[in-house]
Amino acid sequence: MKRHLCADLSLALVLLALGFELSANGAEAKRAGSVITIATARSSLSLLIAKDGRLYELGLGPAGKGSAVPENTPPREMEFYPASGDGFILEPALQATHADGNTSTDLVYQKHSTSALDTNVSLTRIELKDPAYPFLVTLCLKAYAAEDVVEQWAEIRHQEAGPVMLFRFASAGSVLANSGNYWLTHFHGDWADEAQWVEERLTSGIKILDSKIGVRAHQYATPSFLIAMGGEAREEEGEVLGGSLEWSGSFQLAFEVDMKKRLRALGGINPFGSAYQLASGETFTTPAMLWSWSSEGKGRVSRNFHRWARRYGIRDGDKPRPVLLNNWEATGFNFDEKRIVSLFDGAKELGAETFLLDDGWFGNKHPRNDDHAGLGDWQVNTNKLPQGLSFLADEARKRGVHFGIWIEPEMVNPNSDLFEQHPEWAIGQPYREAILGRNQRVLDLSRPEVRDFTWSVIENTLRPNPGISYVKWDCNCYVTQPGSTWLKPEQQSHLLIDYQHALYEVMGRMASKYPGVMAMLCSGGAGRLDYGALKFFHSFWPSDNTDPARRVFIQWGFSHFFPAETIAAHVTRMGRRPLKFALDVGLSGALGLDMDVAKLTPDERRAVADAVSLYKQRLREVVQQGDLYRLESPYSGPRSALNYVSADKARAVLFVYALKDGNQGLVRPRGLEPTRHYRVREVNLPAGVASDLRQEGQVVDGSTLMRDGLQPNCQSSFSSQVIELAGEDVK
Ligand code: GLA
Repeated sequence: MKRHLCADLSLALVLLALGFELSANGAEAKRAGSVITIATARSSLSLLIAKDGRLYELGLGPAGKGSAVPENTPPREMEFYPASGDGFILEPALQATHADGNTSTDLVYQKHSTSALDTNVSLTRIELKDPAYPFLVTLCLKAYAAEDVVEQWAEIRHQEAGPVMLFRFASAGSVLANSGNYWLTHFHGDWADEAQWVEERLTSGIKILDSKIGVRAHQYATPSFLIAMGGEAREEEGEVLGGSLEWSGSFQLAFEVDMKKRLRALGGINPFGSAYQLASGETFTTPAMLWSWSSEGKGRVSRNFHRWARRYGIRDGDKPRPVLLNNWEATGFNFDEKRIVSLFDGAKELGAETFLLDDGWFGNKHPRNDDHAGLGDWQVNTNKLPQGLSFLADEARKRGVHFGIWIEPEMVNPNSDLFEQHPEWAIGQPYREAILGRNQRVLDLSRPEVRDFTWSVIENTLRPNPGISYVKWDCNCYVTQPGSTWLKPEQQSHLLIDYQHALYEVMGRMASKYPGVMAMLCSGGAGRLDYGALKFFHSFWPSDNTDPARRVFIQWGFSHFFPAETIAAHVTRMGRRPLKFALDVGLSGALGLDMDVAKLTPDERRAVADAVSLYKQRLREVVQQGDLYRLESPYSGPRSALNYVSADKARAVLFVYALKDGNQGLVRPRGLEPTRHYRVREVNLPAGVASDLRQEGQVVDGSTLMRDGLQPNCQSSFSSQVIELAGEDVK
């Protein structure tokens, strides 16, 4: 027995000397020089375990790319997850100071395993270790084959004698290519002006997209991007990589073009002001970065993300989103029970399925009559709503309408009972005058009592009122003075990271304890929008700007990463555009309404009710579950057009929006079944108006439709058309 043990040990030593490593679970050792491939149906990432023990990237691209093993060890710039301080000279993925003060880290391959989680999803875990320290990084890559999406994150842990300080901790840091011709598409904006598209060529040096505002972190920049190789991104052609970080806090995306014109894209939590002291035995898990590679343009990247999201990334991806009617634009804070109940009648008349009661329903000593008071005091305002929320939910139900509610549970107004009792619960810095955002402050979720309080807001709202079937979770302030009275002095820089983890814990509890309650993510518009938070939600509020002329752009921007069922597309009278135009814009997303029916003329009421009915009966499924094809960008011409096609290609719907006068060109749908015959029918026409579409009523095969196009009649600004293409065999 003893002899066998010795023999095993000496065999292991020989293997180690030859560059083999025995994995902890006894799985077969891997040889230096071998390639690890992370593959999806149409893409692959190849990694080399080189002779120096380090892990290098051979290629990212179409299936099979870069799997040939080079004779020599690749240059250090090709390291897959480079650490700082031991020879790597560019922007590192990881930077740490070890317990003994050593500021360098080297990471060499230890072992890896790939397991099939099901027939579509596999998880590869690659363990790297510093040869001089018990410091380990496990790179995790979850590949979703059919969707061509990879989720990548890192787990960092150690067994050193004291804490290790982490200064940088990227989720992923791929080297994309070495063509030197890279085009970055990203989306920036402001309140009421979200998701503005910009595309620029990357030149030598680093381009950083980031946010430093902790919560509501995406108000000015989104943690999602596209990189096109060889020229500007096209919709249906060319090599494009899409990335989206699953993190709602401060983020950093860094794109570095090096001296050899290689591009590395690093993404993760923003290391700025967030040095993290990691205790021995603890694991620091980075958020995941989503990747999708396409050789068929950015349209395919978007469809990959949408398909992935519906199946894995959001709640109930296959369930239709209800048509909501929200009272915010109609009443603001100024309502009472009678007024709200009267709006239920309007909701019913228009065909809305859920009424969403927005801000202003709570606070007694400090009533929430405007945005100066009441946040934190989540008791129903007894003056406005004397019979409470269940009464409202019942009244809505009597009219066949579901009832939903607005909350902003992580925030506090200084004018509130909560703040009077617990001023130390708000994030802030000693000796600094508190800076308010929308007259409020952010609660310190790193503190356990605050986490419990935040959960109690949800619990105390939903448990006693089982008639509530929808929640809009808002967030209207960001962190500019990141200090905590809970965290120890040496942990102050943990605040923004601990905050997000606590937030996700509370959001996750809501999703699992109230699976029947749908939820909308909101942050003064889309100030918090990413797949980290969206996994607990059904949809998001893209902007407080509901002028449909702007919504065409905003919805276009978000469509690059998020499926239509998540994009709350509410019709209001903002901007005073033609009602048909506003409705047609709403029909291309998760349709909702924010209007007071009493202010509509009888014709307008009919138009809205007809559009809602059309949506529910004929369009919702194909818009919310279909594949998106962006046809004409609102940025490149006076008109915008897009179409959706159902997965079985039996139905499609085409939207055309004129943003300026004078458009006459054909619009060519995409994604149809070439040999299938579709009946062309313009829908959402005003009552009594016949379509002047040349092909109206005709049956045309998909190939002809895609080649010859349709001739829309949208020549004056803010005219629009919705054209249904129904497979002839479809009822
Ligand atoms: C934010 C949201 C709005 C509305 C108000 C309520 O601005 O984006 O939709 O809910 O808060 O205060």
